[in-house]
Amino acid sequence: MRLTYARCIRGAHPPLLSLLSKGTNVSVKVETLVLFGATGDLAQRMLFPSLYNLHMDGLLADALTIVGSGRSAMDRDAFRAQVRAALTEYLPEDRIEAAVVDGFLARIDYCAIDAGAGTGYAELAALLGDRMARPIGVYLSTPPSMFGPIAQGLKAANIACAECRIAMEKPIGHDLASSREVNAQVGDAFAEDRVFRIDHYLGKETVQNLLALRFANMLFEPLWNAQAIDHVQITVAETVGLEGRVSYYDGVGALKDMVQNHMLQLLAIIAMEPPASVGATAVRDEKVKLLRSLRKMTAEDVKAHSVKGQYSSGAVNGAAVAGYADELGQPSNTETFVALKAFIDNWRWKGVPFYLRTGKRMPQRKSEVLIQFKPVPHNIFARVGAGKLDANMMIINLQPEENIRVKVMAKQPGLDRDGVKLKEVTMDVSLSHSFAGERRRIAYERLLLDFIEGDQTLFVRRDEVEAQWEWIDAIRDAWDQVDMTPQSYTAGSWGPSSAIALIERDGASWHD
Ligand code: BG6
Repeated sequence: MRLTYARCIRGAHPPLLSLLSKGTNVSVKVETLVLFGATGDLAQRMLFPSLYNLHMDGLLADALTIVGSGRSAMDRDAFRAQVRAALTEYLPEDRIEAAVVDGFLARIDYCAIDAGAGTGYAELAALLGDRMARPIGVYLSTPPSMFGPIAQGLKAANIACAECRIAMEKPIGHDLASSREVNAQVGDAFAEDRVFRIDHYLGKETVQNLLALRFANMLFEPLWNAQAIDHVQITVAETVGLEGRVSYYDGVGALKDMVQNHMLQLLAIIAMEPPASVGATAVRDEKVKLLRSLRKMTAEDVKAHSVKGQYSSGAVNGAAVAGYADELGQPSNTETFVALKAFIDNWRWKGVPFYLRTGKRMPQRKSEVLIQFKPVPHNIFARVGAGKLDANMMIINLQPEENIRVKVMAKQPGLDRDGVKLKEVTMDVSLSHSFAGERRRIAYERLLLDFIEGDQTLFVRRDEVEAQWEWIDAIRDAWDQVDMTPQSYTAGSWGPSSAIALIERDGASWHD
């Protein structure tokens, strides 16, 4: 199966191939995938289209059966019809082939389970029959409050065998204490090496490519430290607003929704020490070490080093949009934007600020990492006319564009009779061009395949989630202590003006 996968990405560059051919730590493949929340939005938009793509590319074993589960009672055919409609709606037309769709649907069964009421597990066990003796993968795309009860329900029905594994969407709890509770409930039924916590950013090709960039090249790593780097910026900007997720989002906010997971995972990958290998333990050991080195913010710190914002009405992409409170139908203190100045207390990063910012209703969708290098120690061109040299900068675009740009100084052509002129030029590596012809996979294709095959490298370990919550809880406590409320920003802008001041006070500016 790994060989087949490697064949499919023929032409990918060696670092990516080496990432993909790493060893697995739970090598047995699951034969049955049970998907809780199978009638929900994520399953319809992402999970079934991803599984279909894997099926189409011959990456799923013939024996793999997918059992969808939801609260509604329906028979197998009705559920298959729902999946068929989802594939048509969410996949590009050129991926839909009638015979392939039929083949995919033939793998699918359905079993109604009411996880809240704890009913339906016996029916599931009966449906699974002798499959119960072979590895089962349970994927939870349900409200997080169901994770513990489902794990317990599976255990009681004997669907948590030694070779069974479980995957869970975020969030794991809403703070450190509750995440420990969820982890303990799940851990009581499934050992940690069978628990796959999903952060879908880790499934993104460009996020995995950060590992290749840092550790498969000699060029950057010697400079990747406080001696050469002035600061780092991580921006995850979205144009969308609440998107009908009122009941989930309000009271959660950007800090818990985006920073606690996706942004801290990005930060960990960018700043961690080189792992001994790309194996699950080695990579996750380094990430957790980094996450634990994040300096906890105090009440004093959050006043100077954090900004909360909430969008008011404005325009995004030329269309008028309502403010958050209007969408919600009531005033709220939930932040839809957050900017932070973080420090990592270790040798490599002493004194280097990491500016993080994320928000909804920003002017454009972009996820980007910016590495601002320090200026050269001495300007030998000063006397011949080039008074100011711009410090090098590296911009890694993760989405929607996939490219890496390095800004360097170059001499402007000429005979220099009236002085040397230096100019900043951009070295531009477009990953979309370099790998044109490679289909960009949905992040969930990678994650589902790794889950089925038992490779935990791109899943978040319990200690990582808990370290993430520890840092976030400190910020939330400090916000409460100083009674910080979100500042308003116009939808379609880059956040409250204090977010600009946060970085400009240090003589830098956001890369917009
Ligand atoms: C989710 C958040 O985890 O990530 C959403 O809950 C957010 O609020 C989404 O919109 C962003 O993901 P992506 O892949 O579109 O950047």
